[in-house]
Amino acid sequence: PDLEKWVDEVPRPEILEPSGTKEGQPYYEVEMREVEQRLHSDLSPTTVWGYDGQYPGPTIEAEQGEPIYVRWKNDLPDEHLLPVDTTLHSDAIPYDMPGVRTVTHLHGGNVEAESDGNAQAWFTRDFEETGPGFEQKDYYYVNEQPPSTMWYHDHAMGITRLNVYTGLSGFYLLRNDHERELDLPSGECEIPLAIQDRSFEDDGSLFYPTAVADEQGGSDDSHPDPSVVPEFYGDTPVVNGKAWPRLSVEPRPYRLRLLNGSNSRFYRLELLGYDESSGETGADGPSFVLIGNDGGLLSEPIELEDRLELGSSQRADVVVDFSDYAGETLLLHNDAPAMYRGDDSGESDDIVPLHEVMLVDVADSGADTADSGLEAANAESNATESEGDTVANDSDTEVDPLPSELTRVPEIPVDSVDTERYLTLAMDTDEYGRSRHLLGTEDERSGIPMMDPVTETPTLGDTEIWSLANFTGMSHPIHLHLVHFQVLGRQPVGDYDPDEDAINFDALEDPEPFELGWNDVVTVHPAEVVHVIARFGEFEGLFTDQTGRYMWHCHMVEHEDHDMMRPFEVVPPSD
Ligand code: C2O
Ligand code: CU
Repeated sequence: PDLEKWVDEVPRPEILEPSGTKEGQPYYEVEMREVEQRLHSDLSPTTVWGYDGQYPGPTIEAEQGEPIYVRWKNDLPDEHLLPVDTTLHSDAIPYDMPGVRTVTHLHGGNVEAESDGNAQAWFTRDFEETGPGFEQKDYYYVNEQPPSTMWYHDHAMGITRLNVYTGLSGFYLLRNDHERELDLPSGECEIPLAIQDRSFEDDGSLFYPTAVADEQGGSDDSHPDPSVVPEFYGDTPVVNGKAWPRLSVEPRPYRLRLLNGSNSRFYRLELLGYDESSGETGADGPSFVLIGNDGGLLSEPIELEDRLELGSSQRADVVVDFSDYAGETLLLHNDAPAMYRGDDSGESDDIVPLHEVMLVDVADSGADTADSGLEAANAESNATESEGDTVANDSDTEVDPLPSELTRVPEIPVDSVDTERYLTLAMDTDEYGRSRHLLGTEDERSGIPMMDPVTETPTLGDTEIWSLANFTGMSHPIHLHLVHFQVLGRQPVGDYDPDEDAINFDALEDPEPFELGWNDVVTVHPAEVVHVIARFGEFEGLFTDQTGRYMWHCHMVEHEDHDMMRPFEVVPPSD
């Protein structure tokens, strides 16, 4: 469908209330349900799956040091909303079983293994059937980590891409007193924005492709139908569940918690001036002042000179000061091609770059800052200048400057390293002749399927460097569960071979601003190796000691499902 752009206001997800307590801690129940939701005024309601019946799901707000329990409940229909490829991990998944398998992962959560949402800990409606990794109904989130923008989403083995696409994701914000004392923009001026791409049928239903044979290699009859696609790129931007939306703000600073919740797509974002009548972009808009990444605040704010890159599942906490843009319209612009940093010459025509993500309407100065975004949007669309408003001069609008120091981010010392691992991003061909992505090790550089025995077994309390070497033709956002790491830097893949070289830290290209501080995802571009350092346990009073089985994987969820995922197991020290 040809949807008119910039019609609907960006919704703000609801905040979830606990339904009671368990062991003296807040207890939440969140039911996954199929609902009809209008994702654009001109589109018939779309059948989506939502946590608590909402897409995106309601935001969970938690406090550092205060654990919560969540029971994720499955009340989804018997049949999947989208075509399911039953060849993925077919020996481990009972595809003929009735019901939809789900399991929720708190992305960015430093949590016990039993509550991590392991891909094999899935369960169907009312916990009728459970996977081999299922341990418990109530998940325990200890919340002993720096305040940060996390998100929860589905993680069921073999169908994560489909479950996330139907709408199963939401924000989880962790806060603390220190952060509140920084007086960052809050309340109406703090907005979580989940950026996704979707495609729609004319009747409003979600469109999700299944592969055609020549796209995936293999001959026609050997090719499963439906089949997983190599990547998914939608033609419509959807922010907090609204297609082609606009966001109304006041001319003052805002804190935007940006999440790339897309299946495969990368974004490189910037705000540009925009002329709505001509559709032309103009001069640069306000810059992003980066205050936090995946795992929490940076030590100091950084005004970005270049665009902000977000791979799937990455978060950026930015402050944007709209004070000088009163009355203007801005465009959130993305310049990342679909096949990010790869060879896009063979890209088919139906894979579209998605340059325009969202409009921002900055109200005229002097508008009442107590107006909600929605009221402001309605007022704005009438385009009548209200005489009743006393127009404040810019100089009267007091804007608190950002503190120059945000928090202490202790550096994990490289001389404390116990183990270095060389891990590869590779490709091969599956039994149906389809190309697939894999993760490998120093000894098995061509990759190891997900279900093979665990090869990474960090010891609790150890510091490790993981050197992620990309031998494929495109960028991959690599995510580790449980830990937050620090990016040491990157170099050409040919410049480092663990058999011959020690890592020369001085030779590394420095991390980008959006890679500073604590991260749980790092993008590894083609033909480069990125070195990250992590402590598998408590570090300087941050994070917790956990042992057990976790996952690490590419967060392009099509890759994750088709085999770019591996387990790791944190083992107790043997003394
Ligand atoms: Cu955001 Cu293993 O996932
Ligand atoms: Cu990937």
